[in-house]
Amino acid sequence: MKTIFVKDYNDMSQVTYDIIAEVIKNNEAPSISMTTGGTPRGLFELMVKNINDNQLDISKTTILNLDEYVGPQDAPYTVRTFMYSKLYDLIQQTPKAIFLINGAATDIEAEIQAYSEMLVANPRDVQVLGLGTNGHIGANEPGTAFDSTIFLAQHDESTIESTMKEYKISRSEAPTEMVTLGFTEILAAKQVILMVSGAHKAEAVRNVLEGPITEACPASFLRDKENVIMVIDEAAASLLTK
Ligand code: PGA
Repeated sequence: MKTIFVKDYNDMSQVTYDIIAEVIKNNEAPSISMTTGGTPRGLFELMVKNINDNQLDISKTTILNLDEYVGPQDAPYTVRTFMYSKLYDLIQQTPKAIFLINGAATDIEAEIQAYSEMLVANPRDVQVLGLGTNGHIGANEPGTAFDSTIFLAQHDESTIESTMKEYKISRSEAPTEMVTLGFTEILAAKQVILMVSGAHKAEAVRNVLEGPITEACPASFLRDKENVIMVIDEAAASLLTK
């Protein structure tokens, strides 16, 4: 893992944007898999601005996603809602292809199989990740085996609370399950970017970088992987001792 230490949220967004923009500019048919939530909002704003200013051409780019909540497709918290409201509805260009997991599918196992086949057909250049306060990546919650492959995950309580806060919804409205890429598919991307900002992530960052590599802290598994870049701001790095 390579670590990039930056000042704040804006710098984390900019550094990540620059890496992704380079990949998009230097590839004939780039494939970028995004994450959603509070962490990448600034990154999406930069993408929208640069696409609409003709600084970034995504017409040959395939865009897909790390995960999707199980629930109605138009719920405020879904990855689909986020991707349309923060990117696809705001840009004056169309990506070459868009892939989303259907979290409303009646047959979730068939949906998982179809997405899994799509991933094989569309090797990813970049997988963007956020970090859960409990160390999760995607919905690979603490305790998930390091050889996980795309699966239907149950959220930890801390993850449900983060979703409630992020999308201003009540406990009964909050989703409890999510289809997520496993460690296997996450690490199959050429480059994995783990973005982390804020003091509330500081303990998780310390566990990822200075604790044992253990299923109790899912992202610790990324530490000795050469294709991972972790972009960390000062507040998130504040508990590091080394
Ligand atoms: P957040 O979530 O970006 O909303 O903090 C990160 C994550 O759980 O992956």
